[in-house]
Amino acid sequence: MKFNLDSFDATHQNTDCIIVGIFEQMKLTSAAKQIDKISKNYLTNLLKQGDFEGKIGKTLFLHQVPHVTSPRVLLVGCGPEASLNARDYRRVLLSSIKALTTLKIKDATSFLTEIAVTDHELPWKVKQAAMITAEAMYSFDQYKSKKEPKSTLRELNLWASKDKACEIALNQAICINEGVEFTKNLANTPSNICTPTYLAAEAKKLGQDYKNLTVKVLDEKAMAELGMGALLAVTKGSAQPAKLICLEYKGTTKKQAPIALVGKGVTFDTGGISLKPADAMVGMKYDMCGAATVLGTIKAAAELKLPLHLVGVIAAVENMPGGSASKPEDIVTTLSGQTVEIMNTDAEGRLILCDALTYVERYNPSAVIDIATLTGAVVIALGQHATGLISNHEPLAHALLTAGTETHDRAWQLPLWDDYQEQLKSPFADMSNVGGRPAGAITAGCFLSRFTKKFHWAHLDVAGTAAMMMGGNDRYATGRPVPLLMQYLINQSS
Ligand code: BES
Ligand code: MN
Ligand code: ZN
Repeated sequence: MKFNLDSFDATHQNTDCIIVGIFEQMKLTSAAKQIDKISKNYLTNLLKQGDFEGKIGKTLFLHQVPHVTSPRVLLVGCGPEASLNARDYRRVLLSSIKALTTLKIKDATSFLTEIAVTDHELPWKVKQAAMITAEAMYSFDQYKSKKEPKSTLRELNLWASKDKACEIALNQAICINEGVEFTKNLANTPSNICTPTYLAAEAKKLGQDYKNLTVKVLDEKAMAELGMGALLAVTKGSAQPAKLICLEYKGTTKKQAPIALVGKGVTFDTGGISLKPADAMVGMKYDMCGAATVLGTIKAAAELKLPLHLVGVIAAVENMPGGSASKPEDIVTTLSGQTVEIMNTDAEGRLILCDALTYVERYNPSAVIDIATLTGAVVIALGQHATGLISNHEPLAHALLTAGTETHDRAWQLPLWDDYQEQLKSPFADMSNVGGRPAGAITAGCFLSRFTKKFHWAHLDVAGTAAMMMGGNDRYATGRPVPLLMQYLINQSS
């Protein structure tokens, strides 16, 4: 997709379609007014007939509107005439692109960027438009022998003033789109192909694509020598070897303590000996979304040439039952030296992450953010709209929450109170890997917090947001929280 910015004229565009907003009660946006004027009230008459009410997200194609050079005009409903909120604005954008892709349209000019959005300026609107366009056009048909017809849309003009801030915002969006797409593709790839070894190979490919990105992969032997007893306990039942994938991006020559991203890369989570029921297992190919997010974010950061020092550490394993699998009540020693009684082999994410988190200590990071599809409990607490955030450092939590709001890839903070730590007691080891049903998302965070005492740390539980399981065939990766993390990194770099 190619995006262009300019202060285009709605009546003199040669693109296949122009997109203009219409409010309810026959109120026209300014581009619609221009079209109405040159076409001698064509739009007003149409609205008077009641053919288009302007309800949010509704669309109507008009063809050969008199005196308008573009052969099609797409009307998009924008709701009551008032400043739109971010959510409604995103719905308007999404429906406009979805409509475009139903026809053979190569290029279009959107005037939706001129509509007022509460608390947001033009660069934000440009960024959202570019990001939502990519989202609307994404498809994953690599494993279909008959490909579904691809959208013909190749070029989108966005109305904007010739302003440096808009160009910067657009460039950021284009790079974030690349990261999001990369993350979605990896996440959607099934676990018979996307194994820990495959993730390691994908990381290495990224290392070849960007000259200031180095990638190192530790195998099980190396992890055993280090003493990663918790991570290795998870992989024991699997025929697929585990990998610890370490990436380092140096976007600046300045000596700078790195920001570290740590990803949960369970390429399939059967639950292990604490086997999941069949219905609960569907979707567990997405249990590597944390890992895919780390790779997608680092790719986007490298594309954008962010002047930052970044580290990515991915714990990649498959969680399987088997003759050599870990069993409930097994006790393992973590890389930190603390012991854990594995009361449920399905709480495997925290077991691999605790060792990966101890491992990142060696980079002396200024901040560590882990990303994990960690608990079903966070889906019960927050649903599919917000990522669960837990942190031991309030400024870091705040910076991530702000970045989430800015990109509309939102997170919501849960408390890390000592009161919850009690639930992790074990009679035989330093701790249990589960804390019972109450506050399951928080006790998972409490578990991780015992391995993050030496640095500023935040945990993003993306079990509800990284992939959508809407029942039946409606299953897909979202690429979240790449936009949140990229916005955080952009904010850190300026
Ligand atoms: N990968 C799951 C969490 C998950 C559940 C992600 C649903 C996406 C959708 C995780 O490994 C898990 O199994 N968690 C258990 C923890 C429990 C045993 C303490 C859970 O949430 O049930
Ligand atoms: Mn599990
Ligand atoms: Zn899992």
